[in-house]
Amino acid sequence: MTRRGNDDGPRDRRGYARASTMAKPDLMERVVNLCKRRGFVFPSSEIYGGFRSTWDYGPLGVLLKRNVKDAWWTSMIQLRDDIVGLDSAILMAPRVWEASGHLETFTDPLVDCRHCQQRFRADQLPPSGACPHCGAKDGFTDSRAFNLMFKTHVGPVEDEAAVAYLRPETAQGIFVNFANVQTTTRKKPPFGIAQIGKSFRNEITPGNFVYRTREFEQMEMEFFVPPEDGERWFEYWCDQRLRWYGEHGIPEAQLRLRPHDPEELSHYSVATADVEFDFPWGWGELEGIANRTDFDLRAHAEHSGQDLSYYDQEHDRRYVPHVIEPAAGADRATLAFLLAAYSEEEVAGERRTVLHLDPRLAPIKVAVLPLSRHERLLPVVEEIAGGLRPHLMIDVDSAGSIGRRYRRQDEVGTPWCVTVDFETLDDKAVTVRDRDTMHQDRVPAEQLNAYLLERLP
Ligand code: GAP
Repeated sequence: MTRRGNDDGPRDRRGYARASTMAKPDLMERVVNLCKRRGFVFPSSEIYGGFRSTWDYGPLGVLLKRNVKDAWWTSMIQLRDDIVGLDSAILMAPRVWEASGHLETFTDPLVDCRHCQQRFRADQLPPSGACPHCGAKDGFTDSRAFNLMFKTHVGPVEDEAAVAYLRPETAQGIFVNFANVQTTTRKKPPFGIAQIGKSFRNEITPGNFVYRTREFEQMEMEFFVPPEDGERWFEYWCDQRLRWYGEHGIPEAQLRLRPHDPEELSHYSVATADVEFDFPWGWGELEGIANRTDFDLRAHAEHSGQDLSYYDQEHDRRYVPHVIEPAAGADRATLAFLLAAYSEEEVAGERRTVLHLDPRLAPIKVAVLPLSRHERLLPVVEEIAGGLRPHLMIDVDSAGSIGRRYRRQDEVGTPWCVTVDFETLDDKAVTVRDRDTMHQDRVPAEQLNAYLLERLP
């Protein structure tokens, strides 16, 4: 068995080695295959040939992504008293996008290849000048600005007055609710508003599985601070957010914080740093942390005519809060956790595939496995499963040999397997097998809940 200490590759905080010996393209292919084969992620509209650029999360994927979002929500809201939640609408007044600058500046430079008619982002063309699709040299049209927002119409008349947009970020729903949330919660800066939700961008070149899609989920938090404290809080959130990925299982060596060069900054930002993950194709953004200053609240105050300043009673002064924004993608984080957790190991001459997911993220926490389908075991299995279900997401699996069932659970990252055997009928105890160490403990059935809950971080 290859385990702790078997190679020099990346390790997570518990010291487990990762799939470091595997060629990177292989790793991506294997994870994508696993996702399809075990029901994590399916191509969207697959029976119609797919709809390139959107993906569907299957029974295990929906649990994994939900756990990623819950982990973010727990760290942002539940474990703090200075951040509150929000769930704002996807369709908003079109003037929001005028004020935010999205109508004018949320564009990518687009070029067409004159030979094969494929479209590309001008800033992503290879230095050789060859078309990435047909290889023709220097045959591109002039670059033009392409707005990434999806347009739609509200109501029955499809004219200009009815145009609306699917939100390209969740952040604006937070800014336009700043006064509502601040007055109803009576929070004083520094305080934050967090939300998780779908965003839509008409990306020119979607790709790399769920990394860049046209419909995706964001986990964004806007942290409102007194103007003079912006820099300090920017540093604080860069540190917190980088740490969060490590604490949830990504080895340090696969994470980095990359500050943006001045020419890279968005129109609203004076400082941005990306948390990046070492994806199989290279370093890629998981999350951006930006110092947005008072750009957004000022812009919305101007366009709406509403006062979005804050009166600081203690110091008798009025100011427009500055905003520090950690903006993460739930799909990218899910993919990074999967890639970092994937491992193929040799156990007693046999290979096993394991997802060493942090137990908080694992889709299924416990699998209950009867040693056989013998009729005397089944009522005991039902009783044990019934005792666990209200507390933990479980699976009951009785098909195939016990070794095969362990492998199936390892492959989807289930941290514990509970085996019910014939001895259970006499000693009222079960065997609990740990996914990572494969160590087995005999545990009295009545202490099983406590045993498992104690081991969840
Ligand atoms: N409010 C700021 C904002 O939206 P962003 O860097 O454009 O900033 C934040 O997006 C995060 O949303 C990114 O770091 C990424 O994780 C995710 N994201 C953005 N575009 C995406 C796409 N097309 N597909 C999947 N995730 C995306």
